[in-house]
Amino acid sequence: LLSQMGPDALLTMILRKHPSQRSAEDLEVIYEELLHVKAVAHLSTSVRKELAAVLVFETHGKAGTVLFSQGDKGNSWYIIWKGSVNVITHGKGLVAKLREGEDFGQLALLNDAPRAATIILREDNCHFLRVDKQDYIRILKDVEANTVRLEEHGHTVLVLEKSTTDSTDQGGAGGSSKYTVMSGTPEKILEHLLEKVKLDTNGNDTIDSCVGDFLLTHKIFMASSQLCPALQHQYPLMFTGSELEKADYSLAARQKVVKLLGQWVLLYGRLLKDDPVALDFLEVRPPPLPGQTHPMGQWPEQDQERVMGERGGGDAVGYRAQLKLDSSAVSVGLGLNERLFMCTSSQVERLRPLKEQQGPEQGTADALEQMCSKDVASQLTHYDWELFTAMHEVELIYYVFGRSKFPGATTANLQRFVRRFNEVQYWVATEVCLCQDLMKRAALLKKFVKIASRIPSKTKRIYCAYERLMDPSRNHRAYRLAVAKLSPPYIPFMPLLLKDMTFIHEGNKNYKDKLVNFEKMVSQTKLFVHHKCGSCTKLINFNVKALVSFASDIKCISIFCSG
Ligand code: CMP
Repeated sequence: LLSQMGPDALLTMILRKHPSQRSAEDLEVIYEELLHVKAVAHLSTSVRKELAAVLVFETHGKAGTVLFSQGDKGNSWYIIWKGSVNVITHGKGLVAKLREGEDFGQLALLNDAPRAATIILREDNCHFLRVDKQDYIRILKDVEANTVRLEEHGHTVLVLEKSTTDSTDQGGAGGSSKYTVMSGTPEKILEHLLEKVKLDTNGNDTIDSCVGDFLLTHKIFMASSQLCPALQHQYPLMFTGSELEKADYSLAARQKVVKLLGQWVLLYGRLLKDDPVALDFLEVRPPPLPGQTHPMGQWPEQDQERVMGERGGGDAVGYRAQLKLDSSAVSVGLGLNERLFMCTSSQVERLRPLKEQQGPEQGTADALEQMCSKDVASQLTHYDWELFTAMHEVELIYYVFGRSKFPGATTANLQRFVRRFNEVQYWVATEVCLCQDLMKRAALLKKFVKIASRIPSKTKRIYCAYERLMDPSRNHRAYRLAVAKLSPPYIPFMPLLLKDMTFIHEGNKNYKDKLVNFEKMVSQTKLFVHHKCGSCTKLINFNVKALVSFASDIKCISIFCSG
């Protein structure tokens, strides 16, 4: 009988056998045949052999049959042996057609996520080769192509790449490799990240760190005016059909959107008040409390602009803020050596800087000598830490990508923090220069080294160690190595952080083939997110003892970085 069968019929017969019933010859026939199947042709012989031993032949008779639905748990990966299927997503409908030799269903397995689309047969009598989850993970997880491209209507909308880092991200198919977003359209990236939000009835939802990266950087590629409608779109208010499954799915989808919104509000906090579109969408009405400013006080935008724009102009008045007739207050942050004058408009031209603005004539070395180095160091650190924590991470994004691109965005806290670095440097240099007596000057220098170190002996050696630490050669290698050993919270050396972010920004485009270069966004946020532990509660619990103990490590960096 076998000798009379055509090759196709023979193959089908072998495939129909239960995997455990297949002989060695059967397996050989299958894995040879797999060479002609697009989805697996690129795989090595040994992998195809393993697949041959586990493939299950699955047939479906009727066009329109639903193989699985979006939101379902994923149990298998499919190769189309014969026929074709439609890929359908909620909200968008038909997004792609897959044909013979193509595969689908790997996403849910790899990311341990629900099915990202519904798969429906396009024609009668379709045949599939099915690989169940455990087998797929065992055989293919580490050898499958590194890149998965999802298409909609013939255009790539999402590019995922296998990352083998053992990152702290949750999810992952029980192992170390998972697929992360490299690029995509803003809407598809959002859709994908929403799918990965895991709902937990105990309230311990896990949110992928990518969601945070997305929220921190969304304004670069998706203004709030686009993000809000997209979220609205992902929030199914009505669902056709009354089956329980669909109702469940809609409920879960809505809960995920709410989770993401919660994350959004948590991340931005009161900064959202500068985003009227978001406020409107969230229906948050900011309480019109008087004196409502950022904890550290914040400049209104226009004032800040003028301060930045005209600062350093020199002798007369640094800049002028014209009071409107009906204004009752002016709020401004003063820079180094700036003063606020109030006068009538006719006096403006005659204003001159005060004598003390020309710079000090006398140092405070004597007073400084009386103070305990440790106390000064901890006070300095305490103040730095306050400035640092008042700065929101997103300010770094605005700063590096160019603040003018983000209407209503502020970088005031960041700029003040950077200015603080300069201030301390100026202070040290000024004190040293104003100290004419060389003996005293040496004592003063020693004092500053002590402030930076708190270790009272062998001052010179310590000073050299700090000098080495801040040596910029080999891209600040010494500093990077030292910092790698610290655990957060710590205050980063801002100029270097900004340099690194700018480097990534300038070396990488925001878009790749018209898709958002999400990889760039993630690498930007990775640079700074860990400094504060990324968690508000930890910051609140942060104790003063810890502050003092790292005063010795980190303070020195801002004091001595100019040598
Ligand atoms: P999975 O999420 O497991 O189940 C649905 C599958 O459809 C998905 O894996 C992909 O393999 C496949 N697919 C193809 N195109 C798309 C698309 N544009 N969006 C989502 N899934 C798609």
